[in-house]
Amino acid sequence: MKVKAIKQAGNLRGKRVLVRVDFNVPLTKDGKVGQSEDFRIVRTVPTIKYLINKGAKVILMAHLGRPEGKPDPKYSLSPVAKRLSQLLGKKVLLSPEVVGKKTIELVGSLKNGDVLMLENVRFHPREEMNCKRFAKQLAVLGDIYVNDAFAASHRAQSSVCAIAEFLPAYAGLLMEDEIKYLGSALRKPKKPLVVIIGGAKISTKMKVIKNFTKVAKRILLGGALANTVLTVMGISVGKSPIEPEMFAEVKKFKLTDNQIVVPVDGVMAIKREAKKGRTDAMGDVRQNELVLDIGPDTVKLYENILKSAKMVMWNGPMGLIENPAFAKGTASLVKFLANSKAETIVGGGETVQIIRKMRLENKFNFISTGGGAMLEFLEGKKLPGLKKIIK
Ligand code: 3PG
Repeated sequence: MKVKAIKQAGNLRGKRVLVRVDFNVPLTKDGKVGQSEDFRIVRTVPTIKYLINKGAKVILMAHLGRPEGKPDPKYSLSPVAKRLSQLLGKKVLLSPEVVGKKTIELVGSLKNGDVLMLENVRFHPREEMNCKRFAKQLAVLGDIYVNDAFAASHRAQSSVCAIAEFLPAYAGLLMEDEIKYLGSALRKPKKPLVVIIGGAKISTKMKVIKNFTKVAKRILLGGALANTVLTVMGISVGKSPIEPEMFAEVKKFKLTDNQIVVPVDGVMAIKREAKKGRTDAMGDVRQNELVLDIGPDTVKLYENILKSAKMVMWNGPMGLIENPAFAKGTASLVKFLANSKAETIVGGGETVQIIRKMRLENKFNFISTGGGAMLEFLEGKKLPGLKKIIK
């Protein structure tokens, strides 16, 4: 998959470059961007700096939350503009509106290398409709469009999709990386490829697992989603939540040929808030227990399999990591992979969070900013935001 890269956009000096970024980050209770929550902002800095250095006038478009088409101060991009400003070491102007007189005025006053951010594009009722009229209103603000918002590219929305019909469109540097790494895991993986899939629900990861059965040597499962598979295999998971509606789909996997690997032991407790768990083999889970993490034997088994991998693709935690009592399985695999020689590609909000908390992000080859977008990309879907930036 080849992209139209910004480096091919020619001379950018004095050009107004409209950049779609994904700054949809969680805010703290007092409305700030938390220190370990700014990954998506940090990752767009190279694109923005590149454009500044080329003398472009940078106009950023982003969304925050789901304000449902009307302005809502709770979803203002103001804290994001502040954080970006700190990261760039330069003032980031924030327009008080998305489109309108004030925005046109501010765009008109930009000097080469200036950065302006439009207010949350989802404050406009037409953004989520992928409306061409609104996309045109955005497009007149720029000469070139750059999509660096991989994480929002599964959404057919005006600032991600329709806008690319009205301006020459290019992929930002982060976007290039996302497509390069995730694309290579899916289409040209270094072999053997081992995939780790965790998280809450098998229903949200089913298509990804299916797609990887075509290219991966082994697929290691963890997190609550493994419980549905274990149940299908006749192993009791106590009162852990499962998805019976997925049984038929799970049965289609050849669960006996060892390509899909499930936990052999787990850390169990009676409630999610428990301070401590009980480690035991799968098969010995008690009726009143929940399986909340993978156990040490599973960690060993998975590490053994991962040892021989040339490429590892990981999405989703192995346990309930918000409770430290059930974060050990995930943390062990993070540590192991941080020291692995395999090419490591990781994604999914929670997995990224724990890696960043452990300050090991530099030990992975690539960490995706995508949540839903990453999954849809790995399912093999054509994301609407990529249409015009793929050659
Ligand atoms: C995300 O956080 O996955 C993207 O920013 C998309 O946000 P959305 O699910 O609200 O469309």
